[in-house]
Amino acid sequence: MVKLWRCEICGDPYIGERAPANCPFCGAKEKYIKQAKEAEVSFDANLNAKDKRNVEYALQVEISNAAFYFCAAAKTDSAEGKLLFKALGKVEAEHASVWRKILKLKNIPQGNDACHESNKENLEDSHAREERAIEFYKKAAEEAQNVLVKKIFEAFVEVETDHLHLSEERLK
Ligand SMILES: [Fe+2]
Ligand SMILES: [Fe+2]
Ligand SMILES: [Zn+2]
Repeated sequence: MVKLWRCEICGDPYIGERAPANCPFCGAKEKYIKQAKEAEVSFDANLNAKDKRNVEYALQVEISNAAFYFCAAAKTDSAEGKLLFKALGKVEAEHASVWRKILKLKNIPQGNDACHESNKENLEDSHAREERAIEFYKKAAEEAQNVLVKKIFEAFVEVETDHLHLSEERLK
């Protein structure tokens, strides 16, 4: 029997027999996915100056990475690479949307990052971007005073680490 699930990080619903191992939208791990009626979802965070600065920076990182991945999805010279970068672009766009909600913004700008034709160069770029994201999210999670944003920073450290493994495997 299918059930209705909800991710407690991005708030999006999912229909399936079981909770997915990763949220199909933001990539959060299974521990954050609950049956919809039990899931606790909130984007209402009262941020101190430091947390607000970190969330604003996170939004910029995600906008930039989403733009890079969508560019790579269109341009990279590998059929599998196109699919990988499309999937990554969708996840990073979802991350940007989580930060948009925390910051209570109606709209966010689109990024205009460039990408490469060479799939190897795109994988290397992806690897560097994910490494920077992980490093930043770890630091932001440690510094966070607000429990909600701390939880999201921690969840995204795991998601970006999964992304890092995807490029690492392909660059071997
Ligand atoms: Fe992300
Ligand atoms: Fe990522
Ligand atoms: Zn999610």
